[in-house]
This record gives sequence, C-alpha cells and structure tokens, in this order.
Amino acid sequence: MPERRGLETRFPLKIGMGEKDWDDEQCDDRLSMSTVSRHCFGDDSEAPSFCISIIENMKEDYGLFVWPCSIVLAEYVWQQKHRFSGATVVELGAGTSLPGLVAAKLGAHVTLTDHSSSFQVFDNMRRVCELNKLECNVLGLTWGVWDSSIFSLRPTIILGADVLYDSNAFDNLFATVTFLLQNCPGSTFITSYHNRSGHHLIEFLMGKWGLKCLKLLDGFSFLPSDKASLLSGNIQLAEIAVI
Ligand SMILES: C[S@@+](CC[C@H](N)C(=O)[O-])C[C@H]1O[C@@H](n2cnc3c(N)ncnc32)[C@H](O)[C@@H]1O
Repeated sequence: MPERRGLETRFPLKIGMGEKDWDDEQCDDRLSMSTVSRHCFGDDSEAPSFCISIIENMKEDYGLFVWPCSIVLAEYVWQQKHRFSGATVVELGAGTSLPGLVAAKLGAHVTLTDHSSSFQVFDNMRRVCELNKLECNVLGLTWGVWDSSIFSLRPTIILGADVLYDSNAFDNLFATVTFLLQNCPGSTFITSYHNRSGHHLIEFLMGKWGLKCLKLLDGFSFLPSDKASLLSGNIQLAEIAVI
C-alpha cells in the first residue's frame, strides 16, 4: 500500500530497470530500495495542475534522493511560471531533478546536469523524464571543470537546489555559475540552500566573482502549508546575477 506523506505518495518502484549492467544481487538490492514519490503543483491543492513522479533510491547517496531544498525550489519555479515558458534552463547538481522537471512541464528547454562521474544519477534522470513524458537534455557538468559542452550552454535561468552544502566546493560552483551567467547576459541563478554557517562565505564569493543577490527569501515564506509541514530547517532561496 502506498504510504501517504502530505501531497507526496511513495510507492515501490515497478518500472523495468533491465538494461543495467549490475549483477542480479546488486540489482535486486537497489530495486528493493527504490520508490516513486509524487510532487503536485497548483494553486488549489484539491485540484493540482500537474504532478511530477520522481524515482528515488534511499540506499544511494546525494543525487538519488529528493532533498528538501529541491521541494522549495520546485515550488518557487511553479509560482514563477510566467518566467519559464520558452526559457532555456540548466539545472546544476540536479540529482533527482524535481525543479528542472517542473520547468520543463512549464515549457522551458531544460538541461539537467550533475557531476560527470554520476552515471547512476544520469540513468535515473533519463528514467524520470520518460516516466513524466518530458524531454530534457542530460549532461555531465562538474563544477569548475571546463568540458567543451559547457561552452554551448546559454541558459536564461540556472537552477541549483542544495548545491551549497560543502564549502570546499563553493568556489568551483561559483566559477561555473559565473561562467554561465556571463555567457548569457541578463540570466539569473536561482538557488535554494540550508542557511548554515557558510552564509558569510557565500557573500564573500559573490563579491569575489562579481555577482550580486537580487532577491533573498525564506523558503517557508512561499511554501504551501501542506508542503511546509513535511520540511524543517532554515532554507533560503536566492536569486543571483552578475553585477
Ligand atoms: C545534496 S544533493 C542535491 C540534489 C538535488 N539538487 C536535490 O536537491 O534533491 C547535491 C548534488 O550535487 C551534485 N554534486 C556534488 N558535487 C558536485 C560537483 N563538484 N559538480 C557537479 N555536481 C556535484 C551531487 O552529485 C548531487 O546530485
């Protein structure tokens, strides 16, 4: 039986994962830990406009789990829907990709990216796109690394949910964000993050990379109460652009 968690319903994964090159035991193990969660969006919680299904794997690490910041950013994308129709969007450190998929549902051209070595994450992104009947590009993009593919990206909006969690990686992330922002004048980086002690570092790095904060919101200030009741912590959302 599905387990109800507010707007979200989790149920065991039943779709095929046949073409994996895992051995049977590994594959069974991973399948048993996989679930599909549903995330709904709309102005009326009784009659959502659409829902996105996400395949998660509780046994794997960062990129195969919907983190709370992702729920906050996805809701913000929905509420800012007028900005996404026809937009070109790149999601950094996308993992299970909920914000990017909401953008795609709203009519954006979306490229979902994650660390170039995250093969399982890329596999999962493709499955999730298929599950939701959405077409997105999937690309390896490691922060601070200049593969040729990054030069052709000109996103009008860059998304990043919970990508500011390891202060050792902040500088590389800001280097990539700054490159993408400069590659497309007028573009914006929209990120949601847990406001831990790294906040001063974020401010310092924005100065270092010639960026400014256009908007800073408490993530809970715009979340509907049924979603807010499932989350905790101090989550902030920032819109960042070049000076
Ligand atoms: C905490 S998870 C957040 C995942 C997803 N955005 C969410 O909120 O559910 C951080 C993500 O950043 C990715 N990541 C970590 N370091 C990275 C790097 N150096 N370059 C690109 N992606 C990275 C991880 O693979 C992971 O998917």
